[in-house]
Amino acid sequence: MCGIVGYVGEQNSAPILIEGLKRLEYRGYDSAGIGILDDGRIQLIKEKGKVSVLESEMKKRQVIGTTGIGHTRWATHGIPNQVNAHPHFSSDDELMLVHNGIIENYKELKEFLIQKEYIFKSDTDTEVLVNLIHFFYVNNNNNLYEATRQALLKVNGTYGIAVLSRNNKERIVIAKNGSPLVIGIGKGENFIASDVNALITHTKNVIYLEDGEIGEITKDSYFIKSLNNDSISKEINKIEMDLEEITKGGYPHFMFKEIMDQPISLNDTLRGRTILEEGISKLGGLHGFEERILQSKRIIISACGTSWHAALVGEYLLEKCTGIPVEVEYASEFRYRNPIIEPSDTIIFISQSGETADTLAALKEAKRKGALVLGIVNVVGSSIARASDAGVYIHAGPEIGVASTKAFTSQITVLILVALLLGRRKHLSIVDGKEIIQSLNNLGDLVNEILSQNSEIERIAEKFVNAKNFLYLGRGIHFPVALEGALKLKEISYIHAEGYPAAEMKHGPIALIDENMPTVFIAPKDAIYEKVISNIEEVKARNGKVIAIIDKDDKYVENLVDHVIRIPRTNELLMPILTVIPLQLLSYHIAVKKGLNVDQPRNLAKSVTVE
Ligand code: F6R
Repeated sequence: MCGIVGYVGEQNSAPILIEGLKRLEYRGYDSAGIGILDDGRIQLIKEKGKVSVLESEMKKRQVIGTTGIGHTRWATHGIPNQVNAHPHFSSDDELMLVHNGIIENYKELKEFLIQKEYIFKSDTDTEVLVNLIHFFYVNNNNNLYEATRQALLKVNGTYGIAVLSRNNKERIVIAKNGSPLVIGIGKGENFIASDVNALITHTKNVIYLEDGEIGEITKDSYFIKSLNNDSISKEINKIEMDLEEITKGGYPHFMFKEIMDQPISLNDTLRGRTILEEGISKLGGLHGFEERILQSKRIIISACGTSWHAALVGEYLLEKCTGIPVEVEYASEFRYRNPIIEPSDTIIFISQSGETADTLAALKEAKRKGALVLGIVNVVGSSIARASDAGVYIHAGPEIGVASTKAFTSQITVLILVALLLGRRKHLSIVDGKEIIQSLNNLGDLVNEILSQNSEIERIAEKFVNAKNFLYLGRGIHFPVALEGALKLKEISYIHAEGYPAAEMKHGPIALIDENMPTVFIAPKDAIYEKVISNIEEVKARNGKVIAIIDKDDKYVENLVDHVIRIPRTNELLMPILTVIPLQLLSYHIAVKKGLNVDQPRNLAKSVTVE
C-alpha cells in the first residue's frame, strides 16, 4: 500500500510527480503529498484526500524545482489527515522522507530519539525513520547515503523509501525491504517509483531493487549497494507496457474497462500456450519442472482475497486432472501456523500484484522449508514472481480498479493450463485435452456473449441498490465463484454479502431468508444442477428474492426465480470463468447506482503490502 515517486533531472519535477502519483493512486488514496527541493529550499505540500486535491492546491502555488519526491497514502499508523500525510520532515526540516511500509520497532526508536530531543508532529512511524536518519546524518558529516544506511541497520519492518536533504542537492537516497521500489533510467534524468506504471511515459528502462538494497540517484548517475555497503551490479530491464493499457480508454471506470476487456485479457493469457494436436499446454515458465511437480505428494495453493478464490477453483481443476491431493490455504494463516511442509510438496502462490505481503511471506516460509515454490502472478518483475522457483505469468495486463476482475478469470485460465500440462502426463486423455483446448479457444466469444447482456444486468442491479444484505450460493466448482461474487459486492458497494456452498444454506443461513434478502444462485446445468434447484425452491418457499445465473437454454429456472442471467455452455472446467462475469457486472452497477467510487473503494488499496 502507499505509492512513492521521485525525480531528479532538469525539468520541473512537480508535474512529473503528480502524474506519477495519479498512476499509483490505486495503491492508496487517503492523503497525498509532494516535497520539492529548489536551491536549498524545500517546498512541501500535503493534503488529505485524493491526488486531485493535492494537484489543485499545487496549481494555486508556484512550485518549481528539479528534484522532488511524492507519496500517496494508505494509512497504517495515524489517521488520514494532513499532518500524517507524507513527505515527513526531520525535526529541523533538513531531511524529507516518503515511505511505503511499516517500521515495527518505531516505538523504541521514538523513545530513543525523544531522549535526544527530537520533536514529533505526527503519529506516524515514518517521522521516526526520518529523524533516525537525521541522527546518523549529523554524526556522518551530512552524508545522506551513509546516514540512511546506518539508520536502516537499526530498523525492523518493511520499507520502500526515498530521502532528500537540503544540503545534498539533486540526489535522492532510496532503499527497499518488503515494499516494491523501481528506478527508471532516463537521459539526464532519473526516476524512482513503487511500480513501473508511474514511469512508462518517461522511460522503458528500469531496475528493480531487491530487499536489503540501498542506493542513490542523481540526474545522470545511480548506484545500488547492500546495507553492508557492498556494491551490487543490477540488470536493466525493458518494460513492455503501453500507456493505453493503464488509461480508462473511454470507459467511465477502470473496473468496467477491465470487466469488458476480458475477451482480450483471456486471449493474452492463452496466446501461444496450447498445442491442440497433442491436447496439451506449453508453459515456458514451468519447463523442466513438470516431473518434479508430478512427483509431489501434495500440492498446496496459497493466496489472499480474490486470488484465494481462484486457488479454490484451482484445487478442483488440479485434483481432477492430476489425481494429486490439493490443499488451499490463506497465505496469512499459512505463514503463521508453522505449517508442515515437506520438500516433496509443491506450493503454488497466486497473486495479481505479486507484492501482497502475506503471500510473499508465506512463499519465503515455504522456500525455507525446501518445497518447490511456483508463482502465478500478473505483474511482471514483481517480488513474488522473482522469489518463485518457477511460475507462469497470467498476462492479464495492468489491473488498476481495486476490485480484481480480469485477473481472476486469467488466474483460473492459467490454472487450467497447468492442470492440462500435468494432467496429460497423468490420466487426462488426448481427447479430453483437445476438448479443453477447443473450449479455451472459444472462450473470448462466449465471454462477449455474456458482456452483451450488460444493459439487462444493469436493469437487475437497479432493483437491488437498497438491499442491505446478499447471499451468494453455488456448489462444486461454483462455490468459489459464489465467494467471489459476494466479495465483489461488499468491497465496492459496502453491502454485506456472504458466499456459501448452496447445500450449507439449510445448516444456518436459511434463517436469514425473507422478502428483503436477495440470493444469487450460480446454477448452470451440471452434475449437481438438480440439487441446486431444490435449494432455489427452499429460498422461494420463504419469499426470498432470487437472481439465478443459468444456462442459456434453461427454461425451468426462469419460471421459478425473479431474475435470470443466461450464460453459454462450455467445458465444465471453464465454467467459473463464465459464471463470475455477470456477478462482476452486477456488483459494478449496484455500486455505480449507489454513487460510490468503484475504482477506489473506501479503506482498500490494490496492493496490500502490509501484514
Ligand atoms: C479483491 C481484491 C483483493 C486481492 C487480494 C490479493 O477484489 O482485489 O482481495 O485479491 O488483496 O491481492 P493479490 O492478488 O495482488 O495478491
